[in-house]
Amino acid sequence: MCGIVGAVAKRNVVPVMLEGLKRLEYRGYDSCGIALCAEGQLERSRSTSRVAELEKQVSNRHLSGFLGIAHTRWATHGAPTTDNAHPHFSGKRIALVHNGIIENHAELREELKAQGYVFSSQTDTEVIAHLIDRFYRGDLLKAVQAAVVRLRGAFAIAVICGNEPQRMVGARQGSPLVVGIGEHENFLASDALALAGTTNRIVYLEEGDVVDIHLNDCHIYDAGGKPALREVRMVSVYAGVSELGPYRHFMQKEIFEQPRAIADTLQGLEGIAPDLFGADALPVLRKADSVLILACGTSYYAGLTAKYWLESVARIPVEVEIASEYRYRDSVPHENRLVVTISQSGETADTLAALRHARELGMDGSLTICNVATSAMVRECALAYITRAGVEIGVASTKAFTTQLTALFLLSLTIAQIRGRLTPEQEAEYIRMLRHLPAAVSAVLALEPQIIAWAEEFSRHNDALFLGRGIHYPIALEGALKLKEISYIHAEAYPAGELKHGPLALVTEKMPVVTIAPNDDLLEKLKSNMQEVRARGGQLYVFADSDTKIVSEEGIHVIRMPENYGLLSPILHVIPLQLLAYHTALVRGTDVDKPRNLAKSVTVE
Ligand code: G6P
Repeated sequence: MCGIVGAVAKRNVVPVMLEGLKRLEYRGYDSCGIALCAEGQLERSRSTSRVAELEKQVSNRHLSGFLGIAHTRWATHGAPTTDNAHPHFSGKRIALVHNGIIENHAELREELKAQGYVFSSQTDTEVIAHLIDRFYRGDLLKAVQAAVVRLRGAFAIAVICGNEPQRMVGARQGSPLVVGIGEHENFLASDALALAGTTNRIVYLEEGDVVDIHLNDCHIYDAGGKPALREVRMVSVYAGVSELGPYRHFMQKEIFEQPRAIADTLQGLEGIAPDLFGADALPVLRKADSVLILACGTSYYAGLTAKYWLESVARIPVEVEIASEYRYRDSVPHENRLVVTISQSGETADTLAALRHARELGMDGSLTICNVATSAMVRECALAYITRAGVEIGVASTKAFTTQLTALFLLSLTIAQIRGRLTPEQEAEYIRMLRHLPAAVSAVLALEPQIIAWAEEFSRHNDALFLGRGIHYPIALEGALKLKEISYIHAEAYPAGELKHGPLALVTEKMPVVTIAPNDDLLEKLKSNMQEVRARGGQLYVFADSDTKIVSEEGIHVIRMPENYGLLSPILHVIPLQLLAYHTALVRGTDVDKPRNLAKSVTVE
């Protein structure tokens, strides 16, 4: 959420920074801006439009510089206006960009106002710029170190000063920040992706670190102000991950990458064993007598799906909680409960806070299913399974979800094995199904032309209902979320048996009702629910397994799923729902990859 790029070099840094901003734009796109230092003067350009517009402004004004910082914003404090766009200045001396939220900004603002500072934005960020200016006595590092101890909340910052044209200082606490090491040039970014193609030598800063960056060196200090050594890692983020190739949108690209992403997530899988989750997994998993899953958004729906697998296959009780709720409610801690966090980014503030809360309550056994190996979530959990979805750029999550489900299925099998509930024959059969899964997903993707035909009809509606039962109820929730996120159609999901307790009142001939109809034990019940909809004139759009005998007739539109995939069926059934949302949004002309008001990685509360 929000993106930072900074550079100090012996060349004009504008192209590197704009390229970095474009790569981070999916993180937040309410506004963007760049500040440059040229001949001791700070200049900036800001826009409430997209980075492409900023690029034009910068070029029209012939801005350039060897030192600069840039930002793309997801608004928290203050509307998305130019005045609130980063970088923020303190006088003509200090320029700063910030990700995160400063919780004590109001009190700092009053203090700084009393000292004569004049504020030109409503942001929490501007207080940091003035605070650094107040402490500035000719040494930017010292000023930043003095300022950060006054800040409460989460931040990653990059700061430059007109008086020191070959120096940039960064600091992190609760929001990610990396240093990119170049040849006689160095960089800062909130994600290594921003620097792909520029440098692959990356230092991941740790909580409380402050970094002092020059042309030829960089010095890191820990939270106590002591020099700290941090490993330089070779990070191979391929610059091409942020290119569209033959696709119109990243979401479409990512939907079609799912067979590959699932295959990569299963890479090297020979059999079920605890060490899939880390060398020390066995005692942690063996100790667990129940599971608590914590997550947000799409990852939460992956958790809801996993509950069915864990309870039916591994026979272990599971609770799934929305992280932002769990962290603030009085819950009954349970020492032997395994805490499982699910997160694409591994940086979602609410999920991290919920994990820490669970730990404070005495629940030490933790495992994360995460797509970013270097993330805070992976660092903070005892065990991890890294999904290999690759970088996901579309704000609406797709391949991250199906790879999470794949990993969660492996977790269910592993716990089942430890609890003596997985025979070698069952294990072999599930492994066979998992190996065939990428091909099964590819077969579902081939349904796209039929789904495009439905999307035209959906685009004319303002509401839609999604129905599922059992393990496909969370898939209905995910389908509804996808549709509302990117097409702005109001969509709700219900377990089909619950229809008669309220939502049936909404059903008229104008209401499209998407129904997930796998051939499972609940099929006959589901068919009755479908009749309840038809009797009120509702239009059913059914994704039916080929062996369900549900056929198209008046008011019932059917797309046949290629094969019934048993326990793994949710992974297949979510795919047409992703495509339906995508194509409906396309017809409605919305910004598919950057839906209004949303952001990819929500690192603020
Ligand atoms: C945001 C994203 C969602 C994502 C959720 C949780 O809302 O737009 O796609 O599901 O955050 O993110 P995480 O990175 O923790 O999975």
